[in-house]
Amino acid sequence: MSGPQWREECRSCGSTALAPVIDLGVQPLSNAFLSTLNSNGSQAFGNSYPLRVVRCLACTLVQLAYDVPREAHFNDHYAYHSSANNSDHWARLAKEILLYKPRNVLEIASNDGYLLRHLKDHCNVLGVEPSDNVAQIARDRGIPTLTQFFGPEWTMRGMKWDVIIANNVFAHVPEPNALVAGIKANLAPDGYAVLEFPRLTDMLRLCAFDTIYHEHYSYWSLQAAEHLFFRWGLKITKAYCVDIHGGSYRIFVKHGQHESPQYGGMEQPSLYADFAARALEIRRELQKLIARAALDSKYVAAYGAAAKGNTLLNYCQLSRLDITCIADTTPWKQGKWAPGSHIPIVSPEEMLATKPDLILLLAWNWKREIMPKLKGYEVIVPIPEVSCVKVS
Ligand code: TMP
Ligand code: ZN
Repeated sequence: MSGPQWREECRSCGSTALAPVIDLGVQPLSNAFLSTLNSNGSQAFGNSYPLRVVRCLACTLVQLAYDVPREAHFNDHYAYHSSANNSDHWARLAKEILLYKPRNVLEIASNDGYLLRHLKDHCNVLGVEPSDNVAQIARDRGIPTLTQFFGPEWTMRGMKWDVIIANNVFAHVPEPNALVAGIKANLAPDGYAVLEFPRLTDMLRLCAFDTIYHEHYSYWSLQAAEHLFFRWGLKITKAYCVDIHGGSYRIFVKHGQHESPQYGGMEQPSLYADFAARALEIRRELQKLIARAALDSKYVAAYGAAAKGNTLLNYCQLSRLDITCIADTTPWKQGKWAPGSHIPIVSPEEMLATKPDLILLLAWNWKREIMPKLKGYEVIVPIPEVSCVKVS
């Protein structure tokens, strides 16, 4: 892809019948934290791009209407998923994969080897990972890893693989057909592809519009996934829910085709109309709450400089005039500014030292971990609807 562009066709099935879902405005990239101040005291604005979501009336895939070029996203520090917090989850997945007694396992976007490390002593493994810094960590752990993008042309000397894994990759690729073509070409005749992806149904149910950002090109249901695999002569043989990334599907895919579709329901317009209306209501409520706080001379701070927090702040048009700072424990985020809103990111201790009257919990998916750290404070939880909680 040479430059930014509006998509005229569904990135999965090619249909031009695309209906609007939600328009989150023109936003900077959610992970583009700013590290400099200009001499006049204002931060660099950086590049902003439309953040608009549409759905395909043919295959139901929910997707971005506008693509930011890959070069703008690519960042050597960026890793798709973190390994540290979920090692039990991956150990269990490895165990399940080993039940199939694979001779060889290929993982697409294998990151730092978070999963293959559980498999490497039992079968031949290979990781394909586009970010060299995380690929190097995997190699240092003794996990064979190539720094490459996976696609339809990818092959390892024509070898076929008993298991091909792609966790949390679907949403991050602009062209899902390229990914599936590569899987189809490299999968052994009796092999399984194992994929995990966040559930669109949860995003809609929770009104988690903040999980929409430019790095996430598409938002998958089983129905949309089945549609895609069907066109490639692949079928979903098993699908169930796993508790990661706020709720994901894990699916097993094989060569072959079902006679009729197994999944349905995602074509209902009301699913999307309700979602957009609730997002608008969250924006109104937050803006009202924060404007009232300003009138009462109250300080408002935030907690958790997550990528999703930036979508929320920018959609709600909240800036450092409204929110004094964002607390985050991640050392490389501290001392930077949030893209778009220009709110400074500080340590939790520094944030609490400002004696905030209200704290907006941007990393609401970590509520259970973060709330105990905010005892005695009044916290605004924005999703699934705006609520205020005095933490006791
Ligand atoms: P994530 O949902 O993308 O992992 O982002 C969560 C952000 O919140 C991340 O920048 C780390 C931060 N965080 C804290 O600052 N304190 C905490 O206790 C937790 C759980 C997360
Ligand atoms: Zn489509």
